[in-house]
Amino acid sequence: MSKISTVGVIGAGQMGNGIAHVCALGGYDVLLSDADPARIDTALQTITKNLTRQVQRNTIKQGDMDAALKRIKGATKYADLAPCDLVIESIVEQDEAKRKVFADLKPVLRPDAILASNTSSISITRLAAATDRSDKFIGLHFMNPAPVMEVVEIIRGLGTSQETYDTSVAFIQSLGKNIANAEDFPAFIVNRVLVPMINEAVYTLYEGVGSVEAIDKAMRMGAHHPMGPLELADFIGLDTCLSIMQVLYEGLADSKYRPCPLLVKYVEAGWLGRKTQRGFYDYRTDPPTPTR
Ligand SMILES: NC(=O)c1ccc[n+]([C@@H]2O[C@H](COP(=O)([O-])OP(=O)(O)OC[C@H]3O[C@@H](n4cnc5c(N)ncnc54)[C@H](O)[C@@H]3O)[C@@H](O)[C@H]2O)c1
Repeated sequence: MSKISTVGVIGAGQMGNGIAHVCALGGYDVLLSDADPARIDTALQTITKNLTRQVQRNTIKQGDMDAALKRIKGATKYADLAPCDLVIESIVEQDEAKRKVFADLKPVLRPDAILASNTSSISITRLAAATDRSDKFIGLHFMNPAPVMEVVEIIRGLGTSQETYDTSVAFIQSLGKNIANAEDFPAFIVNRVLVPMINEAVYTLYEGVGSVEAIDKAMRMGAHHPMGPLELADFIGLDTCLSIMQVLYEGLADSKYRPCPLLVKYVEAGWLGRKTQRGFYDYRTDPPTPTR
């Protein structure tokens, strides 16, 4: 098995900052990169805030927090990622954008470095084909929020080697996470089940069966879900939910995965949920107000 000590994270959004947080706390040196350098600064602030909360709740010690923060550095160009043993890509859920990142990384990474994608739905085999190392390519699907959620889906592409898989399993276990193995089919396990349910909740709203509040309350209290599906959609990001539905619709060629036109409309408006302050709820008010 390869030894991992330095981890690169590309994409410093809500998932990228969580993955960087977990890796640094797990004792790895982390290089955090984003196309927009301002996102790296924001991610570092978020990580500091979230680590502070963990200290206050006594789940980690102040010394753990200080050491973790020292291990995370920003990387403003791909060349900075040269020392990485593992790079985890976590940029927007768009096939072309991800494939371009992997192509751009080719001249930078060491030949033995492992490359992983945190994609929620896109074929690992297809993404691997954009790299120079399909045997060292794997899907590591962290859940949101990464520091809190207990499981990571591991997805092997057609060409992923046993050594890459074994190294990845050891790495994820070293972070204190459980593993769910998933085959490389659209949206894997969690999102294959979860996101069509969210899409159905948006249809329920679209068809006037219930209001935003009624749908969320019904599912929280009637199905004992910790969050209502529309609240959860805002948490995930409506652009990510739509991308996952599109991958399911195209990848499985089944009309039951048709994205709800209302979900498309919210994304067209740029109302992407919590990250843009507005989605099915408006987060600029306290408490958040339903937008329909
Ligand atoms: N949101 C979730 O609940 C969730 C859960 C698990 C996995 N994921 C997956 O994680 C990935 C990231 O999702 P997110 O919710 O963090 O999105 P996000 O919108 O919060 O962050 C995406 C980040 O990628 C950056 N970016 C965009 N294009 C880039 C490029 N070419 N190079 C470098 N950086 C680039 C953006 O500036 C942004 O900071 C997606 O593949 C998504 O499917 C999301």
